[in-house]
Amino acid sequence: MTNEEQFTKIIEKNTKHLENAKEHTQYKIGYIKSYISKWLKVAERYNQNNVNFIDCMCNAGIYKNNILCTCTEVVKLFVESAKQFPHKQFNVFLNDYNENRIKILEEVIIVLNAEKLANLNIYYDTCDVVQYLNNFPKYDNKLKNALTILYVDPYNFGIDNLLNSTLNFVDRYYCELIYNFFSSDIRRNISNDTAINKSQSILKELKGVIEEFDVNEFDVLDAMVKVQESYKKTRNIKYTFAYKFKVVKTNVELYYILYFTPNIRGLELLKESIWDVFGGESSFSKYFVKYKDLPTLFDQETMLVESYANELVSILKEKYNGLEVSYTEIETYVLENSFLKSTHIIKHIIKPLIKMNILTKENLKGSRNYKEDFYIFS
Ligand SMILES: C[S@@+](CC[C@H](N)C(=O)[O-])C[C@H]1O[C@@H](n2cnc3c(N)ncnc32)[C@H](O)[C@@H]1O
Repeated sequence: MTNEEQFTKIIEKNTKHLENAKEHTQYKIGYIKSYISKWLKVAERYNQNNVNFIDCMCNAGIYKNNILCTCTEVVKLFVESAKQFPHKQFNVFLNDYNENRIKILEEVIIVLNAEKLANLNIYYDTCDVVQYLNNFPKYDNKLKNALTILYVDPYNFGIDNLLNSTLNFVDRYYCELIYNFFSSDIRRNISNDTAINKSQSILKELKGVIEEFDVNEFDVLDAMVKVQESYKKTRNIKYTFAYKFKVVKTNVELYYILYFTPNIRGLELLKESIWDVFGGESSFSKYFVKYKDLPTLFDQETMLVESYANELVSILKEKYNGLEVSYTEIETYVLENSFLKSTHIIKHIIKPLIKMNILTKENLKGSRNYKEDFYIFS
């Protein structure tokens, strides 16, 4: 039987426990899969012995409409890497509090023959997510000398202590984090008089990680930025980025996939995924879905890059006016605050700014070396 036939059998046997993957879910999976495949190529070559993926709300491994869950796609990638790099240890940690889903997931993973590889371990748990994160020390030794991605993907916002436990996790362990921030749930319920408990649990969650918080002037995006800043104060997280997902039918904002990393290289790879999967569009939206397969009469990427770059030029000019700044600082600002990727920076930001006499390049390592140089904004 082919893998596809085996998956179909698993779906038929377990329909009542499975969900359909909506279009935004399919793109969310594609986005994370794209990022992890790029990340793996880098991780494989690092000295660290362990390469880890932790999905603490992983679902059943497969959807009713024959779409594989993120964790299954990741296991497929890990199987390939484990075969190619037999001296490295690959670990996948999968948790969902729904025991039926974990049983189905185990069947799905067996199809991939993952168990047969000596250097690929898969650990299953069926805990509440907060308990799972707090009890992770049982796997402590796997997280030492390791490159790790933690994925937290709830259905809504306001699971008691989830933000705080995740923050403690990234403070304790060197890792990257992908977190589904359910902004629509907050927007809908923050001042919902008919769901007082829900609005209180949302506030409690936010207050768990945000120091200064004015409930009377509440703004969801402002709260999200504050959450991102609070994570950046942990021991390991240095860079962050948010990518917006909208509901295809209504084009209303649904959630943001927040990304956190200790290493700028991670952010560079994430941006590449945004261009590969979403063509650099600023969100997954009704319009992205409508136009994605249509042939364009003009170069869509060039147009988008130019519009992002134009916006940035004036922001950078104001932000750094009169200052001497390194390439790395400019790169970090661009990567964290725009949709541009690393390869756009010299051509679309640095060179035009020099041409406009806004930037003076110091040429410390020659006129052709842009990355190891400093620039004066005037
Ligand atoms: C949005 S789905 C995850 C989808 C999956 N990450 C993917 O990309 O295919 C959320 C999952 O979290 C599980 N879940 C919800 N609340 C939980 C909790 N408190 N602890 C552990 N799992 C939970 C649900 O059973 C569900 O399978």
